[in-house]
Amino acid sequence: MELTLTNSTTLSFASPSAAADGTAVVFAEEGNRFSPAAQNLDKKTKGVLRDAAKIAGFKGKKGASVDVLAPQGVKFARILLVGLGKPKDFANDDWINLGGAVRGKITGREGDTAHVYLEAARDEISPEAAADFALGAQLRNYSFDKYKSKKSDKDSDAKTLKKLVVHYDDPRAATRAYGSERAVLNGVNFARDLVNEPANVLSPAEFASRVKALTKAGVQVTVLSEAQMKRLGMGALLAIGQGSENPSHMAIMQWKGGGQKGGDPIAIVGKGVTFDTGGISLKPPGGMEDMKGDMGGAACVAGLMLALAERKAKVNAVGVIGLVENMPSGNATRPGDVVEAMSGTTVEVINTDAEGRMVLADCLWYVQEKYKPKAVINLATLTGAVMVALGKVHAGLFSNNDELSEELIAAGLETGEKLWRLPLGPKYDKLIDSKVADIKNTGGRWGGSISAAQFLQRFIKPDTPWAHLDIAGTAMGSEASDINRSWGSGFGVRLLDRLIRDHYERR
Ligand code: BES
Ligand code: MN
Ligand code: ZN
Repeated sequence: MELTLTNSTTLSFASPSAAADGTAVVFAEEGNRFSPAAQNLDKKTKGVLRDAAKIAGFKGKKGASVDVLAPQGVKFARILLVGLGKPKDFANDDWINLGGAVRGKITGREGDTAHVYLEAARDEISPEAAADFALGAQLRNYSFDKYKSKKSDKDSDAKTLKKLVVHYDDPRAATRAYGSERAVLNGVNFARDLVNEPANVLSPAEFASRVKALTKAGVQVTVLSEAQMKRLGMGALLAIGQGSENPSHMAIMQWKGGGQKGGDPIAIVGKGVTFDTGGISLKPPGGMEDMKGDMGGAACVAGLMLALAERKAKVNAVGVIGLVENMPSGNATRPGDVVEAMSGTTVEVINTDAEGRMVLADCLWYVQEKYKPKAVINLATLTGAVMVALGKVHAGLFSNNDELSEELIAAGLETGEKLWRLPLGPKYDKLIDSKVADIKNTGGRWGGSISAAQFLQRFIKPDTPWAHLDIAGTAMGSEASDINRSWGSGFGVRLLDRLIRDHYERR
């Protein structure tokens, strides 16, 4: 299977004097201080830009903008003046979001090309900021439209931007900085494509074969069959997939960019339920279609591995994803069944809709046994309850390690993929004790996200630093943002890429 990345806009950096057409985007700082390019366009248009700003009440505030259409005296069809506020105060994801917001304002009807003159009035814009701006624009450019039949030519809205040129003082430095960001872009969009793909197309086998394509980028990929998993004793994962016609798989992705000196790998584990009907504990029909996105954790792991490989990250990382379809059938697991996980722990299945934790149990145990990782981070669209607690703003963070938690929370603030830590503890752990087996797979109505996390922790060795991210509210059906309008957000790729850059890479 080809590795395809949805990315139609070509982006390049050019020097400020390069020739132009289409849209021009120029900037002003707070107090209406125009950048040199804005001043230049204002002069060429005999003051139209200043006049337009005045009429619109534009003061250069961050996020504000003024549009001038069909201006005289320049070769642009449109001039977009964008406020920067105080660019020296920009932090975290501000440049990415600005890039996304600017990209969102350009339709392509103005011409095939948009030229962004990325300069402020007084403040310096660093090459990294320029690269972030470009990443934001490219992230916003994503759409999942492979199943839309062709729009008619009469529909002028069908026009899309072909080329985005970012004019920046030092295009070579910006292009160099953008190299890593392009890898991240490809990783995020790879994850988004997987999340958006319907489950009749994206079976566990199809997911595994798309992951296999990462070998081209330098990732070593192994896919386990049901027979192999059976031999390994993965009774928890297999119990979930057994009701489906589509056989289960586990995919293992290794990126060895850290070499010998890099030591033991960091492990990233993902829930890959390609569709979650709930099984015999069948879900109600309303909104069930969203359960095609119940593989958002696995999608993030795959996207992250691609990003690490493409930017040649100096880290050893292993990704493990459990790929299953949770279906009701004559062969499906029943409530009350007892199964044995690879770790030897026996599990009483109370609710077949609490399937993600069963899949992760065997993935988590396998990765610790086989790779002795220095840390394990898992991602899963695990519980509806995490949305009750945190909405769609923060993902839930559960961890046995304060340092890892702090690092993750900081990476969340840097990237805008925010985390909020929730508790673990013995009183929550007791909720999953079973009368007939070692543990049961649900802990009752209250604290549902926490008892799910406690279940996972039963498969974590005491000295393994571990974090679980419950991304049910952030991986799919996300609110429209400056950098994403698609249903699948690709949540977690930028977050974990940032964590690895900041703390796990050799310098
Ligand atoms: N995949 C769901 C969680 C989910 C719900 C993700 C909505 C995204 C949006 C998970 O497998 C599930 O069904 N969880 C149950 C657990 C319960 C049966 C203990 C839930 O949250 O209701
Ligand atoms: Mn479920
Ligand atoms: Zn699920």
